[in-house]
Amino acid sequence: MSDKDGANKAWSGRFAEAVDDRVKRYTASVGFDRRLWRADIQGSLAHARMLARQGILPASDLAAIESGMVQIAQEIESGSFAWNLDDEDVHLNIEKRLTALVGDAGKRLHTGRSRNDQVATDIRLFLRDEIDRIAKLLGDLQSALIDLAEREAGTVMPGFTHLQVAQPVTFGHHMLAYVEMFARDHARLADCRTRMNRLPLGAAALAGTTFAIDRESVARELGFDGVAENSLDAVSDRDFAIEFTAAAALIMTHVSRLSEELILWMSPRFGFIAIADGFCTGSSIMPQKRNPDVPELARGKTGRVNGHLIGLLTLMKGQPLAYNKDNQEDKEPLFDTIDTVADTLAIFAAMMATVRVVPQRMRAAALEGFSTATDLADLLVKRGLPFRDAHEVVARAVRRAEELRCGLEDLAATELAALSPKLDESARAVLSLEGSLAARNHVGGTAPDQVRAAVARARARLARLP
Ligand code: ARG
Repeated sequence: MSDKDGANKAWSGRFAEAVDDRVKRYTASVGFDRRLWRADIQGSLAHARMLARQGILPASDLAAIESGMVQIAQEIESGSFAWNLDDEDVHLNIEKRLTALVGDAGKRLHTGRSRNDQVATDIRLFLRDEIDRIAKLLGDLQSALIDLAEREAGTVMPGFTHLQVAQPVTFGHHMLAYVEMFARDHARLADCRTRMNRLPLGAAALAGTTFAIDRESVARELGFDGVAENSLDAVSDRDFAIEFTAAAALIMTHVSRLSEELILWMSPRFGFIAIADGFCTGSSIMPQKRNPDVPELARGKTGRVNGHLIGLLTLMKGQPLAYNKDNQEDKEPLFDTIDTVADTLAIFAAMMATVRVVPQRMRAAALEGFSTATDLADLLVKRGLPFRDAHEVVARAVRRAEELRCGLEDLAATELAALSPKLDESARAVLSLEGSLAARNHVGGTAPDQVRAAVARARARLARLP
């Protein structure tokens, strides 16, 4: 290239020297922001149509821009488009090609616009579609978990606190806990989408434009709920990227907690579940192994999304109004967050549909930890003992069962009676796993009938989503 490569740079008119190659490489974003091309064309077309309606752009120019953009879209889709680092970013690459195709009409497209409001619009258009795709994937995962919960609504397993056997629950109930988390995630995404769905175009570089533009009509054409109120905020706001990444970090956190449980449950020590071979991997040295690589990777990738969230927050914290080139750094974390969350949700929806439980193992574990001790205490309270005293009686019952190396439900009526005059043979009914489950018969409880009702509610809630 010659010393002053002015003809090739959209903004180099005032520069006496060519930009250093290292600077070109350092500042170019086309290597990654080309992913926004569809949104960029969509936004440019809406802008051009508005300019034509307002009499700012001749109808013949609009026609030329529209046909040029059709060709550009075909070139990009087919892979023949020549992306050029010298043209810095997706916006200038497309504009340059448009001008090569249609001449001066292409040069007029940027009237009343800046790359600052252009990129702010592009990311919103792009992220809006990605949010819809991720919301759908979240729905698929919830659906798989609800099916599993229905199938195992009455399957007893130990519920844990401190990873110690606490009280019996059903496997279905446990799965529905995750459905609740993912339902909140769904709502968070929808909420973020609503706040994001305002049109920045019209803000131009930062202060608005001298042309008689009609922002409302552009907003309507592009499916925004309205225009961004303040031009300075419109070009510099990246809250939506942070909000989305925060929602994504929570999704990954929930997936990661589920992963941790799957990994434990699949380990031979627990042996509670199996997942299909297609979702496990082997060891290159230990032929006996079936490793839970998918949940382990998901747990690991959670760190990466959390990192992107902190990266974006840090990106914004020191920026004065309005646009700064720092903002170009929003894209890679955002894209990687989208890819990570979407891939993870898709594979989890498929994998969870293959989960098979091993009821005997879960039952045996539930029987091990005196998991119905609270039920016995509750019975004593119902028979008139203050709860703290009941707690004490049951603690002695547990100690006695430990001495006899048996479960609470195996204590003879005489043993029970010796612990408290309020205990007799009838107390044994509340000590069975099934009795314990069935007794928690209220909304949100683990009684199998309640779990089935919760399954129905969760399904209906999911069906109501757009
Ligand atoms: N590639 C830029 C970005 O992603 C586009 C906006 C550039 N604007 C500017 N004034 N340099 O933020």
